Amino acid sequence: MPPPVLALAGHVALVTGASSGLGAATARTLGAAGARVVVNYNADREGGEAVAASIRAGGSQALAVQADVSQEDEVEALLAAARGAFGTLHVLVANAGLQQDARAEEMTLAQWRRVIEVNLTGQFLCCRAAIREFLRRGPAPKVSRATGKIVCMSSVHEAIPWAGHVNYAASKGGVMLMMKSLAQEFADRRIRINSIAPGAIRTPINRAAWESEAAEEKLLRLIPYGRIGEPEDVAQAALWLASDLSDYVTGATLFVDGGMTLYPGFQDNG
Ligand code: NAI
Ligand code: BGC
Repeated sequence: MPPPVLALAGHVALVTGASSGLGAATARTLGAAGARVVVNYNADREGGEAVAASIRAGGSQALAVQADVSQEDEVEALLAAARGAFGTLHVLVANAGLQQDARAEEMTLAQWRRVIEVNLTGQFLCCRAAIREFLRRGPAPKVSRATGKIVCMSSVHEAIPWAGHVNYAASKGGVMLMMKSLAQEFADRRIRINSIAPGAIRTPINRAAWESEAAEEKLLRLIPYGRIGEPEDVAQAALWLASDLSDYVTGATLFVDGGMTLYPGFQDNG
């Protein structure tokens, strides 16, 4: 068997929520590594098409496909579109997610449900659809040592409680055990399932936390490494988890957070 490489030649990858932020950077990075990429978007068609176009400009194939990941029929149609365009799927990055923040006493049931439905149920629906395709197709040893690879986009808030964001933290805590349970269930079929838990990365989801100098200064107090993350920091970790270089890694959460989970408050306290 040839030595593993940090590349995805022959792979078909699906990245959800890929019209902006971490999803867009990950789709571009996987495309640059040689994968044919399905770029999922929900509302932002222009953004999805632009990401797909930039992947094609780099020499890989790419297709933008609309789907709301919280809707079972739309996720099924998304997988059907991937198969229709590229024949199968080898990598899923279940990235789509959102925040609807409110203090718990003011949080509506609709806010609770929407965040759980997109961040947790949406990831489950995408994982299930990808796993079904991996099992249907079986091993593809010329493409990868694994039959399929899934990267779930979690958050440091799978571990760090977050006041004012109970729906979001609960969704990411759920992603953590969903990922590990699926990894345990499908390891014997050579399907690797891992998560990335980003810290504060500069994207539209947390614009308010970095766009003013005062907000940025406050945020940096939570980051021992001294800089806010960039989408490429996460995209490069996703590429490693999707490649055969991580072939013995499954059921793991890779924290990409500049040390945010290192209890920075204890640096000069306790
Ligand atoms: P973003 O807001 O740019 O990206 C989220 C993407 O998900 C958007 O493209 C949005 O259209 C899409 N999306 C939302 N609902 C959807 C639905 N129902 N169906 C399909 N797509 C949908 O923000 P970002 O930061 O790129 O977020 C990506 C993921 O990273 C999310 O799961 C988020 O929770 C996670 N994350 C982000 C961190 C950060 O600091 N930026 C830190 C930790 C986790
Ligand atoms: C959230 C961001 C936040 C980061 C660190 C992410 O999961 O989506 O809004 O900046 O965690 O707290």
